[in-house]
Amino acid sequence: MAEMVEIFDTTLRDGEQSPGASMNEHEKLQMARQLERLGVDIIEAGFPIASKQEFEGVRKVAEAIRECRVAALARALPADIERAAQALENAAQPVLHTFIATSDIHMKHKLRMDRDQVLAATDKAVRLAKRLIPRVEFSAEDSTRSDWEFLVEVVKVAIAAGADVINLPDTVGYTTPTEIRDMFKYVIAHVPGSDKVVFSSHNHNDLGLAVANALAAVEGGARQIECTVNGIGERAGNTSLEEVVMAMRTRNNIYPYDCRINSREIVPSSTLLGMLTGLAIPYNKPIVGRNAFAHESGIHQHGVIANALTYEIMSPESVGRNRSDLVLGKHSGRAGLAKRSRELGYDFDEAQLDRLYEKFIDLADKKREVFDDDLRMLIVRMLNEDFELYHLIEVDTFGRNPAKALIKLGKGGETFTDSATGDGPVHAACVAIERITGVSGRLETFEIRATTPGKEAMGEAYVTVDFSGQVFKGKGASTDIIEASVAAYLDAVNKYLAYRESAENGITLRGM
Ligand code: KIV
Ligand code: ZN
Repeated sequence: MAEMVEIFDTTLRDGEQSPGASMNEHEKLQMARQLERLGVDIIEAGFPIASKQEFEGVRKVAEAIRECRVAALARALPADIERAAQALENAAQPVLHTFIATSDIHMKHKLRMDRDQVLAATDKAVRLAKRLIPRVEFSAEDSTRSDWEFLVEVVKVAIAAGADVINLPDTVGYTTPTEIRDMFKYVIAHVPGSDKVVFSSHNHNDLGLAVANALAAVEGGARQIECTVNGIGERAGNTSLEEVVMAMRTRNNIYPYDCRINSREIVPSSTLLGMLTGLAIPYNKPIVGRNAFAHESGIHQHGVIANALTYEIMSPESVGRNRSDLVLGKHSGRAGLAKRSRELGYDFDEAQLDRLYEKFIDLADKKREVFDDDLRMLIVRMLNEDFELYHLIEVDTFGRNPAKALIKLGKGGETFTDSATGDGPVHAACVAIERITGVSGRLETFEIRATTPGKEAMGEAYVTVDFSGQVFKGKGASTDIIEASVAAYLDAVNKYLAYRESAENGITLRGM
């Protein structure tokens, strides 16, 4: 049997640090459930000390996820570690992940600590973490720019203090495949007891080498890969989960390892993440991009028709593309809707199902065929309604220039109606929203995409709005693009209002 490599997914932590990728706690929970279905071994749910919202997000994921381990990140500081342990309190299989930088440049300029101080902090942090949570991962941040002899000393201390997993990150995406392979070999060979712990590789993609470096680290002895769906993450992102997994599966003759991932859940995971964050997936992105399996040239098309293996190194079905989407229609009924929702991973109570059914019938009236992605979009929208401060009940627009908009919003059982004129229907509607909410923003970017095929496709709108220097992203979906655009604007307004409220309470939240 092939040796196993564990997949540590950090979409909800490092991935969520991508500009524009922030998710509220309900969105994190939906993504976590999909990651559980995807079969990752560990979900890193967040950095609990960062904010109250982040803490709640980790707590909710820890409570809900039973099939995989849930990790929380903490700097090598007692307050961070205690907060992370608190967030993991109800986890079935918790992992406390603590880190400290080990490169000279980080120790000198960021930590202002010398080597002995870093060794002492490592010992103290891992011991405390181990007292609170049975499984501890220790990361030597910026390992790939650290002195290897010192790295060995740090790893020895972490193992002696009780670490179960040792992660050697390429924090700034600087290393190369041969270098990282040699680094893992060196550290593993020079640390007594290295066979008692799991070595892990966490790579950033600044030079486009994250996947190659992760595979090389496995050749060097790592047996855990840290990665994110769609490769999202700080700056240029992290190792992309779908790429590294499919590289191991497709080139198993070169990488004779396996992992628990159910590759048919790759595309659904990628799509859901795109919907939740609004981060577009480049058309040419390997595995999950729209064009990843599209053959344009006649020669290629001819070859693929004769035998798919001529130009396809893996099948689209193996990653969950072109699955025969079970199409729902108006006559599918409540039971059909409940069944498909369950298959997509959502177990709703009766009240939620009633709400979803109402939205579904409304959509099926406009659009005869309701695809999985349409349904996912309806669900994402419904679950967010509970979290939103304002939700859109109705928008009516008339004329063009000037245009007039009539808006009806709901908030905590109350309804608010107002109208305004503007330089087009969307502008008029945004002005009406400003009049109701008392919040004024400047639309910075505005993008419309089609979610599913057909003339009556659901349109998704993505906006970024500047509220006096604070920029927030918003997303909305509807078969009517004006309604989708207005919903996206309102989503950004809600995020800003939540931010303003928490800032007034002295809690810092990340922007966007
Ligand atoms: O890139 C990095 O070094 C990290 C650590 C916290 C693991 O994200
Ligand atoms: Zn990272």
